[in-house]
Amino acid sequence: MALDKIIRIHSPATVANMVCGFDILGFAVNEPYDEMRIRFTDSPGISIVNEDDYQLPTQPEKNVAGAALLALMEELDAPIGFELSICKQIKPGSGVGSSAASAAGAVVAANRLLQDRFSKEDLVRFAMNGEKLASGVKHADNIAPCIYGGVTLIRSIFPLDIIALTAPPLYVTIVHPQIEVRTSDARGILKQQVLLKDAIRQWGNIAGLVAGLLQSDYELIGRSLEDVLIEPVRSILIPGFDKVKKFSKEAGALGGGISGSGPSIFMLSENETTAREVEKQMKEVYESLSLAYHTYVTTINQSGVTFVEE
Ligand code: HSE
Repeated sequence: MALDKIIRIHSPATVANMVCGFDILGFAVNEPYDEMRIRFTDSPGISIVNEDDYQLPTQPEKNVAGAALLALMEELDAPIGFELSICKQIKPGSGVGSSAASAAGAVVAANRLLQDRFSKEDLVRFAMNGEKLASGVKHADNIAPCIYGGVTLIRSIFPLDIIALTAPPLYVTIVHPQIEVRTSDARGILKQQVLLKDAIRQWGNIAGLVAGLLQSDYELIGRSLEDVLIEPVRSILIPGFDKVKKFSKEAGALGGGISGSGPSIFMLSENETTAREVEKQMKEVYESLSLAYHTYVTTINQSGVTFVEE
C-alpha cells in the first residue's frame, strides 16, 4: 500500500433522463466537472476534506462520496483507510448530476489506488449508494455515464445491465436557473400510474431516440426528444421552462428538456453556432424574469471520469 501515492481526477456533470428516458438514459458533458483527489491513510476509515464552499457533510455515511466508498470498502473487506479531498464545481441540487459526480469520482479514484481491482460495473453498483443517500432510491442514469462516458442506456439496475451507445457529435447548452430542486421532491410529485396510450408514446420516443443516436439521424433524435410522462409534472417547478424550450427550438435546437430532476434545462444542437444562439435565448428568458442563472455550452464527454497527471 503506497501511502505517498495521490490520484487526482475530474468527475464530469451528467444529464440524466435525456427527456424521454426517465431513469434509463443519460450522458456525460465536458463541463462542468468536480475536482477530487484520494490517497491511502495509515489508519482504517474514510476522511473527507471539503475544498469548496458548499459545506457538505464530512461524515462518510452522510456524504454521497463517502456512502459510495463505504460500499466499495465493504466488498474489499480489508482494513484500509482513504483520505478524499473534494472541490465541487457542480452545484448541489442543480440537476446536472452533482451527487453522481462525487459518488462516481470517489470510487473510480479509489479503484485506481487499488490497481483497478473492480470493474466499471462494480463501480456503478458502489456509486449508486451515493444516489440512494441523495434521493432515496438507487438510479444509475447519472452514475453510469459519469463512469463510462458518452451516452448510456441502463436497461436494468437489478441486475445491472448498462449499454454504452454511440452518438453523432452533439452540442449541449445548459441553463441553470439559480433555484434548488431536490431530487427527492421532484420524484415525490410524480404520478405512480400512467395511461397505456402515454406509455406507448413514451416507448416510441425512447426507441426512436436510441435508433437516432445509433444511426446519427439528427432529425429522428429531435423528433424523439419528447416526454409525455415526467415533464408535464416537473416543469411547473422550473420558472421559464416553456419559454426556454420554445425559443431554443426556434433558434434551431434539435430539442431538449429538464436535465435530470431539474432545475437545469438542456438543449441539444447539431453545431456550435446553434448551441450559442440557444444560450442567448436562454439568457434572455432569465434576464426577463430577473432570475439569476448560469449557462454552459459544451459537448458530450466521451471518457467519463478522467485521471489528471501530477
Ligand atoms: N432519473 C433521475 C430523476 C435523475 O429524474 O429523478 C436525477 O438526477
